[in-house]
Amino acid sequence: MRILVTGGAGFIGSHFVNYWLKRHAGDSVINLDKLTYAGNLSNLREAMKSARHRFIKGDITHLPTVKRTMKGVDTVVHFAAETHVDRSLLNADAFIRTNIQGTFTLTQEARVAGVKRFVHISTDEVYGSIEKGKTPETAPLEPSSPYSSSKAASDLMALSQWITHRFPVLITRCTNNYGPYQYPEKFLPLFITNAIDNVPLPLYGKGINIRNWLHVTDHCRAIESVVKRGKPGQIYNIAGDREWTNIAVAKLILTLMGKPGSLIRHVTDRPGHDIRYAPESGKIRRELGWRPSVTFEQGLKETISWYETHQDWWRKIKSDKTAYQSYYRKQYTHRINGGKYS
Ligand SMILES: NC(=O)c1ccc[n+]([C@@H]2O[C@H](COP(=O)([O-])OP(=O)(O)OC[C@H]3O[C@@H](n4cnc5c(N)ncnc54)[C@H](O)[C@@H]3O)[C@@H](O)[C@H]2O)c1
Repeated sequence: MRILVTGGAGFIGSHFVNYWLKRHAGDSVINLDKLTYAGNLSNLREAMKSARHRFIKGDITHLPTVKRTMKGVDTVVHFAAETHVDRSLLNADAFIRTNIQGTFTLTQEARVAGVKRFVHISTDEVYGSIEKGKTPETAPLEPSSPYSSSKAASDLMALSQWITHRFPVLITRCTNNYGPYQYPEKFLPLFITNAIDNVPLPLYGKGINIRNWLHVTDHCRAIESVVKRGKPGQIYNIAGDREWTNIAVAKLILTLMGKPGSLIRHVTDRPGHDIRYAPESGKIRRELGWRPSVTFEQGLKETISWYETHQDWWRKIKSDKTAYQSYYRKQYTHRINGGKYS
């Protein structure tokens, strides 16, 4: 099988590319990625040595590139997106372009090229915040941020290809991922790398927001089950077994690292910060036989150890003045000092 992965130089996409090459010896992977600030070829060291992996630097919104890349492809797994909620609050242009326009271009061209299966990777954030109970796949979409709104729009755009043309689109909506190679602007790698350097961990508000965490390899296994056994036109929620408040996660990180709780610095909350996401993941467990295999405590320990032993990887990112430092300053410095969101 020839599989096209978009966004395969990002956090989850690169894990998926490595995972797929290892597990499917007869398959070849085409990896289309624009290499935005979040894309990183050093996530793909092993894959880049494989004759079954071809990397193409390109934009999913660029029609000629997409047309060319789609030729001879059997299955598409579409990760490419702008993914950071906080950046979408500062400027949402790229989110609209990549997440909505890009998904439209890909699904349209995949259908025209006769692709047999298109798996669109979405997020539980499209359901919006829920204080009690769980959100099944049939729940209404009530996204809060420009990021989650653009993902909700991309879900609907992808599904429309199934509804109107019976083009076999499948959608996954996963909860928060963590693991190695996650860009250090995201909650867990930001807190772990700050703790390594003994600098404050900027925790939004009181830290009472609740999330469900899934190790990235469990996400890859879930996507594999959808690629192999999912039904066209269906949506599959993917979630771990436990919920955690952000403050409990911050404290657990510090305990596991042997660092003092005083490193936690409460900062002005993110506007529109969703209180809780709780996708109901019974469908993928029942119908496709998937289960998470890594407990959060175990996965977090291993993830901390990875960031401790791969400092070159994240120090290079954190020392980038344009992509990282100017963003970090905008986002946190004034908040740590008690300022408001700018
Ligand atoms: N990280 C999570 O916790 C999480 C949870 C659920 C769903 N998701 C979804 O999974 C997918 C991957 O998330 P991630 O955390 O790995 O993201 P990421 O930000 O680490 O990586 C995104 C990748 O997409 C590429 N990209 C961005 N715009 C592009 C464009 N126009 N053309 C081609 N490539 C482009 C980037 O270069 C990067 O390699 C996203 O669709 C996201 O919405 C993420």
